Amino acid sequence: MISSSLEQTEALAAWLANKVQPGTVIGLDGDLGAGKTAFSQKFAKHLGVSGVVNSPTFTIIKEYEGRLPLYHMDVYRLSLDEADELGLDEYFFGEGVCLVEWSRLITELLPAAYLHILIETMDESQRTITITGHGELYDKWCRELKEKWG
Ligand SMILES: Nc1ncnc2c1ncn2[C@@H]1O[C@H](COP(=O)(O)OP(=O)(O)OP(=O)(O)O)[C@@H](O)[C@H]1O
Ligand SMILES: [Mg+2]
Repeated sequence: MISSSLEQTEALAAWLANKVQPGTVIGLDGDLGAGKTAFSQKFAKHLGVSGVVNSPTFTIIKEYEGRLPLYHMDVYRLSLDEADELGLDEYFFGEGVCLVEWSRLITELLPAAYLHILIETMDESQRTITITGHGELYDKWCRELKEKWG
């Protein structure tokens, strides 16, 4: 889909925040400044998280309480070995929702079922957002999204 503004990206984040359930994993990729953290902040807001959601670049994993626990991760600075040592499965298969910025760097460590979101910058306010469902449930979400947003 094409997002022409932060508000349109927020609409997608809101739709997904309403959909997620315990154990949902969403991988986020895109260049510097594409909008991974902006998406995460809007997603957190619509999940009912109060307070500030920052980029977890230096803390790697930050936990928030919303309708469900939210685990916000940024694996940009990690090697695959370091990421492996974090025991991410505990989060991926836990009671909360995982948002993983730079998920493509740890593709091998992701669960078989997850939703992937790629944000590409077209110009200052326009983004191409490509959503891919891995697994039956996320595939279904993609079909619903396609119906809603074309
Ligand atoms: N359509 C859009 N969707 C999302 N963000 C947008 C859009 N248009 C403009 N923006 C702006 O783009 C910026 C994205 O910055 P953000 O920090 O979210 O990027 P990032 O992908 O997390 O980058 P980094 O990898 O450096 O952490 C924000 O300032 C946001 O307001
Ligand atoms: Mg970021």
